[in-house]
Amino acid sequence: MNNAPKSPPAPAEAPVALTKATKATPPADPAVPVIAIDGPVGVGKGTLAQALARRLGWHYLESGALYRVLGLLAERRGVALDDAPALAALAGGLELSFTVTEGATAIVRLGGAGDGGGDGTDGADGGGDGADGETAETGEILGDAIRSEQAGRRASQIAPLPAVRAALLAWQRARARPPGLVADGRDMGSVVFPDSACKIFLTADAEARAARRLLQLQEKGFDVNLAQLLRDIKARDERDSKRAASPLRCAGDAYQLDTTGRNAAQVLAAVWLRVERAWPRLQNLHAQPRRPA
Ligand code: DC
Repeated sequence: MNNAPKSPPAPAEAPVALTKATKATPPADPAVPVIAIDGPVGVGKGTLAQALARRLGWHYLESGALYRVLGLLAERRGVALDDAPALAALAGGLELSFTVTEGATAIVRLGGAGDGGGDGTDGADGGGDGADGETAETGEILGDAIRSEQAGRRASQIAPLPAVRAALLAWQRARARPPGLVADGRDMGSVVFPDSACKIFLTADAEARAARRLLQLQEKGFDVNLAQLLRDIKARDERDSKRAASPLRCAGDAYQLDTTGRNAAQVLAAVWLRVERAWPRLQNLHAQPRRPA
């Protein structure tokens, strides 16, 4: 079954400044294979994406963390969640990096370039479920503060703003670097990496997702209850899928998988078959000559 070779682990990346995207944001490097994983909250995207990235030795992009970080920074700096120009400016001043290390982790580093801060390199490995990571803002560790339901809600509130999405687009596409990228979010297959040769769209009953989120959040010490989580999830589904800019939707060429009643290993096994099937196309992409810079 395993015709997808393991590559050596992707090297840690230096923080890269987010640049404001123009309307003509260039596409991701077509020579780099991308696996795009989308779906609503609590569906198991992060766990799956990190497992794939680890298995393949590819980079990992957790796009939701960008919106979560931005929402949290906005709140801390008194920027209103509907102030599109201020939010876009804030996004343009961040420095972030994501790496996958043993034990599963997205590490986010914020340098606060927009406000003259230092290099903020306090990221550290998170726990083993792939859901956490650490975030530093000019030396201040945000850590699990971006993992709360409130942070998810804030992220979902700023995410519909086209200026915010535009400000984050180029940076996300620039994460497509050799040997490959596994990216998860809402619009990875539809907007950010539309040319991906392997698109996965996960679904699950809202009740099953709420139960999963309950466990994840309780493990992190958050005080949550199932009924409230279910309400939050439904509200977020509604906001994420009904917005005009890059709504949550399944790309036409995506493989859909209902993860209700499946554990992480079963989801990985099912998706791995699709990765193997897509492997020749992923490899062909890799073999194509690089476009001139
Ligand atoms: O994946 P997540 O739950 O961490 O994402 C938090 C919010 O960020 C989500 O409700 C909507 C927004 N988001 C988005 O609009 N586009 C993405 N690619 C990822 C997240």
